[in-house]
Amino acid sequence: MAQTVVILLGAPGAGKGTQAVRLAEALGMPHVSTGDLFRANLAGGTPLGEKARGFMDQGELVPDELVLEMLFDRVAQDDCQAGYLLDGFPRTMAQAMALTQALGDQRPTVINIDVPDEAIERRIVERRSCKDCGAIYHLTFNPTSVEGVCDRCGGELFQRKDDTSEVVRTRLQEYHAKTEPLVSYYTDLCGLCTVPGQNSPQEVFEACLACLGPGSNAANSSSKPTDHLKTPCDNSQKEVGL
Ligand code: AP5
Ligand code: MG
Ligand code: ZN
Repeated sequence: MAQTVVILLGAPGAGKGTQAVRLAEALGMPHVSTGDLFRANLAGGTPLGEKARGFMDQGELVPDELVLEMLFDRVAQDDCQAGYLLDGFPRTMAQAMALTQALGDQRPTVINIDVPDEAIERRIVERRSCKDCGAIYHLTFNPTSVEGVCDRCGGELFQRKDDTSEVVRTRLQEYHAKTEPLVSYYTDLCGLCTVPGQNSPQEVFEACLACLGPGSNAANSSSKPTDHLKTPCDNSQKEVGL
């Protein structure tokens, strides 16, 4: 079966997770985030989580072999058979090449969310996430109605351990050294759509949808995700841009 694979590229804090949740809902596709998969392994105390912990805490990338096994196990599951939306993968040339090989003749649709380094630190240091449903907030740009409580599910908010100014610097270095080269890799492989990530979340969302429109690899696949477009989720109204 032809699969629709969408890749969200972008620096740490660019808004991949924020947009992935909305796009997955709008397109009816599973959202596969390698960062979330590692955090679930950490929370569950699995051997994989223990191996990944030190790298994540320092802001370094987890070694490719650990990432690839986890990712390919996840996308082999039933819900991914028609396609999936990747957030935070691939992040190295070796990961990108492994995915290209696994996809065979099929080409992904790649969206690059572009945010300058100067805007990243504030986004990350003030980010808060819900323990229960994973919703992403920001103390200034997207606060909850009641401090510390998730608007969507009432869950408790937490701050990721790697969301400190110090660790952000390493994450940005890792991004520029190892992940940014994927922009030209995918430009050459299949074309890539760059979206300015400093507009409001709603504007970024609409720009991402436009990348998935007619003429994209996603629209050309047999399982056209744009056929299932629905209204964006309710909490879109309360978010504000920079
Ligand atoms: P991961 O969890 O993927 O972290 P990341 O790439 O650093 O990205 P973030 O989750 O920090 O940012 P985001 O782009 O999702 O932004 P968000 O939407 O939250 O990975 C964590 C670690 O796991 C890595 O460091 C590595 O160790 C390991 N790892 C994971 N995948 C790996 C792989 N493939 N290979 C190797 N190692 C891997 O938004 C950020 C903030 O900005 C939020 O507060 C949000 O509310 C706000 N915001 C979003 N959009 C806007 C907007 N338009 N305007 C204003 N504010 C906004
Ligand atoms: Mg994220
Ligand atoms: Zn929640």
